[in-house]
Amino acid sequence: MDSFAIHPVNRFAGSSAAIRRPKEIAYFSYDDEHKFHLDERSLRYYYPPRLGADLSKGFNTFQQLNDTADDHLDSLLNTIIDLERRTGTKCTADIITWRGMMTKIMATPFDNMNGFEMNATRFQDSIFIEENHEHKIESKKAQQDQPSRPGAPSQDLMAYWGYKFETLSLMPDQWDPTSRDFIEGREDMVVNNHAQYCSVVKTGIGKAKMVIGGEVDALWDCKPDGKDNPINWVELKTSAEIENDKDNMKYERKLLKFWIQSFLLGVPKIIIGFRSKNGILQRLEELETKNIPTMVKKQGRGTWDGNLCINFTASFLDWLKQTIIGEGVWRIRRRQRSPVVEVFRKEESGHGDVLSRDFVEWRSRE
Ligand code: A3P
Ligand code: MG
Ligand code: MG
Repeated sequence: MDSFAIHPVNRFAGSSAAIRRPKEIAYFSYDDEHKFHLDERSLRYYYPPRLGADLSKGFNTFQQLNDTADDHLDSLLNTIIDLERRTGTKCTADIITWRGMMTKIMATPFDNMNGFEMNATRFQDSIFIEENHEHKIESKKAQQDQPSRPGAPSQDLMAYWGYKFETLSLMPDQWDPTSRDFIEGREDMVVNNHAQYCSVVKTGIGKAKMVIGGEVDALWDCKPDGKDNPINWVELKTSAEIENDKDNMKYERKLLKFWIQSFLLGVPKIIIGFRSKNGILQRLEELETKNIPTMVKKQGRGTWDGNLCINFTASFLDWLKQTIIGEGVWRIRRRQRSPVVEVFRKEESGHGDVLSRDFVEWRSRE
């Protein structure tokens, strides 16, 4: 067992390690039935929602994605196969994973409460990392088993508010006068969270080059033609209205996750829908992702430091590259409140289910 010390985190303080601006290299969509497509059919555009809307409306007709199956890295790998076939060039990186895994790693110095478990395997000079599905299911269950305060909305209803807010804020095409009917109908639309547009980007932190895939919620205007990145992505979030200092502290902690999530895919703007305790949309706030760390620093509570997260990630990934060097399947684990991230080999050979058969066959072709 090898371990990487998280504490003292101050050794990661200071100006940040080099970062590469994320660049979209490919994308895919899940449709309304969560079927995979190598196109941008689920791309959506932002148009502000009506304030005063009730986010609970339609909860009883919510078409909720059943995410109990383990999808591993399959959609990401299928997108990479297609990219390599089209371009005739191998998509190389030190780390290939979902954005969610990188978010957990990057938040580690300031998140003591949430542990994580991942599976990793080395293949042709890249380390592929997936979430350990059993751990995900267990932690979700533990969270749901926690008693909610009497009279407080259920976890399920609160999760619905997030998707309802998306439905109220999205359009299938850029605005034109014919969008009016659509916009007016949004409040009565059935909320369905099966569809997603996922962006696959090339990026880097410190010496580690990465290819990461993750969902983006919407476009602000249009996607630039050709390779003229960056793209004006928008991330949508809801948050409880801030009433006192404790709420403010909670919000600042949430901003850490919002910032990391958007930073990793190069999403420049986050729209926050503030809601009342019982789910009425009250106001919108637009945040520029790049300003969030300074904004939090200025508040002076010292809840988190963006540069420190970047430096921690750069060191950790460097160490990971030197640690996961042999065959087989490895576990990357951080237990709740643990001062270390542990890495150990779980299977001596093969790639477990981290890599799909299609991907291994594609990469092993003559
Ligand atoms: P909010 O973020 O507004 O709460 P994302 O923000 O990543 O686009 O996710 C969209 C919505 O999915 C969230 O809206 C929330 O409702 C739900 N969601 C995402 N991750 C979740 C989690 N770990 N637990 C519960 N709900 C989650
Ligand atoms: Mg989303
Ligand atoms: Mg969102």
